[in-house]
Amino acid sequence: MTEVDLDHHRSGDAVTAELRADVVAGLTAERKWLPPKWFYDAEGSELFEKITQLPEYYPTRSEREVLAAHAGDVAELTGAHTLVELGSGSSEKTRLLLDALTAHGTLEAFVPLDVSESALAEAAEAISKDYPGLTVRGVVGDFTQHLALLPGGQPRVVAFLGGTIGNFLPAERATFLRSVRDVLDEGEWLLLGTDLVKDPGILERAYDDAAGVTAQFDKNVLRVINERLGADFDPDEFDHVAYWDAEHEWIEMRLRARRALTVEIPGADLTVRLAEGEHIRTEISAKFRPAGVEAELAAAGFELVRWWTDSQRRFGVSLARSVRG
Ligand code: SAH
Ligand code: TRP
Repeated sequence: MTEVDLDHHRSGDAVTAELRADVVAGLTAERKWLPPKWFYDAEGSELFEKITQLPEYYPTRSEREVLAAHAGDVAELTGAHTLVELGSGSSEKTRLLLDALTAHGTLEAFVPLDVSESALAEAAEAISKDYPGLTVRGVVGDFTQHLALLPGGQPRVVAFLGGTIGNFLPAERATFLRSVRDVLDEGEWLLLGTDLVKDPGILERAYDDAAGVTAQFDKNVLRVINERLGADFDPDEFDHVAYWDAEHEWIEMRLRARRALTVEIPGADLTVRLAEGEHIRTEISAKFRPAGVEAELAAAGFELVRWWTDSQRRFGVSLARSVRG
C-alpha cells in the first residue's frame, strides 16, 4: 500500500491547549456548551460513519442522490483542476465528483481537509489508490483556521458537504463563508450542501436514532475530554437530546445530566457542577431555506449559479462562483 503524505497544521500539544480553552469557556458559561469539532477523534469519526448509514439519517442519502444526478454538471460548469474538500471525513460521496471531474479530463488534484487524522488518512489512501494519476494531498487542519494554505492549481472547487455548514452559529457561518471567499480568486467555485427545513419529526429522528448510535456519538465528546484532560465524566450519567428550535430553525444536540453531578477536569484546572436536568449544548445543526442560502452566499461574495435538491426536497446543494466584493 502506498502512503499518502498528509500536511499537518495541528500538533498534539496545540490541540490539547485548544481543547482546554474551549472546555473552560464552554463549561463555565451560564448555559454550558462545547464546540462540535471535539466529537471527531478516531472513534467519533467511526461513529459518524455509522450515523450516515442509519435509516433515520437521510442527509447523506439525499445529498448523494443530488451529487449522483449533477456531478457531471459540476464538472462541465467549473472545469476544475483542483477539488478541495473541507470537513471531508470519509469522502465517500465525493467520489461521485471525482468520477465526473476525471471523466471530464480537467482534474489534477484532490485536497481533503479534516481535523480527524484517522478519517483523513484512510480516505486519502483509498482515493489515491482508486484514482491513479490524481495528486492527493490530505491536510490535517481546522477549516476555521487553515484555509490560507490550501495547495492546488486553479480553477478550484471547494466542496463543503454533509450540511456541516449548519454546525456553525449564524454569525460564525458568515465569517466562515467570507473566509472561503477570501482564499479564492474571482471565478473559482464553492459547492455547498445544506440540509433543508422540514417536518420536525423527521429531523428529530435523524438526530436521535432508535439504535442509539447518535447518542453514543454525542457522548463521545465526553470521552475525548476524559482522555485529553484527565476528566472523570461518566457518559452513562447523561441523556442525549435532539431538540428542534423552531425559532432559529436548528436542531440542538444536548447532553442532559440525569442527576446532580460534579465533574473534575484536572487538565483544565476545573470543577464543573451540573444540576439535575441541566444540559450541555454540544452542537447545533441549522436547517436552511433556498432563499436564505442564496442571500448568505451573496453576502459572502458568491453568486449562486445552480441550486439542486433531491426528489423529496430534503437537502439542497448549491454551486456558487466567487465574485468581486
Ligand atoms: N463531509 C462528510 C463528513 C461530515 S461530518 C460527509 O458529508 O459525510 C463533519 C466532518 O467535519 C467530520 O469529518 C469532522 O471531522 C470534520 N470537522 C468538524 N469540525 C471541523 C473543523 N473545525 N475543521 C476541519 N474539519 C472539521
Ligand atoms: N454535520 C452533521 C449534521 O449536522 C453532524 C451530525 C450528524 C451530528 N448527526 C449528529 C452532530 C449528531 C452531533 C450529533 O448533520
